[in-house]
Amino acid sequence: MPVAIITGASKGLGRALAEALSARGWDLVLDARTEGVLKETAAVVAGHGHDVEALAGDVTDPAHRAALVAAAWRLGGCDLVVNNASALGAEPLVRLEELPLEGLRRALEVNVVAALGLVQEALPLLRGARAGAVIAVSSDAAAEAYGTWGGYGASKAALDQLAAVLGEEEPALRVWAVDPGDMATDLYAAAVPDDGDPRPEPDSVVPGFLRLLDERPASGRYAAPALLEGRL
Ligand SMILES: NC(=O)c1ccc[n+]([C@@H]2O[C@H](COP(=O)([O-])OP(=O)(O)OC[C@H]3O[C@@H](n4cnc5c(N)ncnc54)[C@H](OP(=O)(O)O)[C@@H]3O)[C@@H](O)[C@H]2O)c1
Repeated sequence: MPVAIITGASKGLGRALAEALSARGWDLVLDARTEGVLKETAAVVAGHGHDVEALAGDVTDPAHRAALVAAAWRLGGCDLVVNNASALGAEPLVRLEELPLEGLRRALEVNVVAALGLVQEALPLLRGARAGAVIAVSSDAAAEAYGTWGGYGASKAALDQLAAVLGEEEPALRVWAVDPGDMATDLYAAAVPDDGDPRPEPDSVVPGFLRLLDERPASGRYAAPALLEGRL
């Protein structure tokens, strides 16, 4: 069975991806900071009958990242790393003139530094996999200039660039940065609490991610609408 590490897998998009991969027979290593929520999610995901290791911790902790990769190794290897856990830098989001620099540092640490750290830790296993892949969950805010999304967007732009260069440096792997589009999740609500407009559920974008795994297009940046419509 292929093995995936998914960060930020207790809720939102990470949980939706975990459920879909488990239903397809993947063994999983799941991470999030809040242990109770993570364990509840892991119990549901394990209902599909495949192995699920749930390790609570913060992706910025190198020892935690090493533990995630060690758990994958015990399951047989690592075919996929999904860097999905994310920090906004300020909740709610604020204009750059007010953005606490500590918040920006935190967004960079979670969204960029920890993401690369996990990939570095997992690379030996990814290179040994039959079809190794890395997914960096990005955002529209990485490419467009939306007021108040500057710190978070800058961190996602940096993540995109790391993914692009990793794809060049590791031609045997696939490295996809994916903009999932707006979704109705706690992260979005924390970013813009006054925005009550309806948004798609995270489940609705999962088929786009599965298409990447099925069709293995070239490393690069992809957005959910194109993936969902089969425009690869
Ligand atoms: N929602 C949107 O509209 C939207 C749009 C574009 C891109 N995205 C991206 O989609 C991804 C998933 O976001 P989401 O909307 O699904 O968010 P979510 O529902 O709030 O879930 C975030 C997950 O990450 C975990 N997490 C957060 N910080 C962590 C850390 N430092 N270490 C380990 N786990 C951590 C959370 O659990 P704990 O809090 O317990 O750690 C949770 O499991 C993110 O990369 C986000 O930037 C979202």
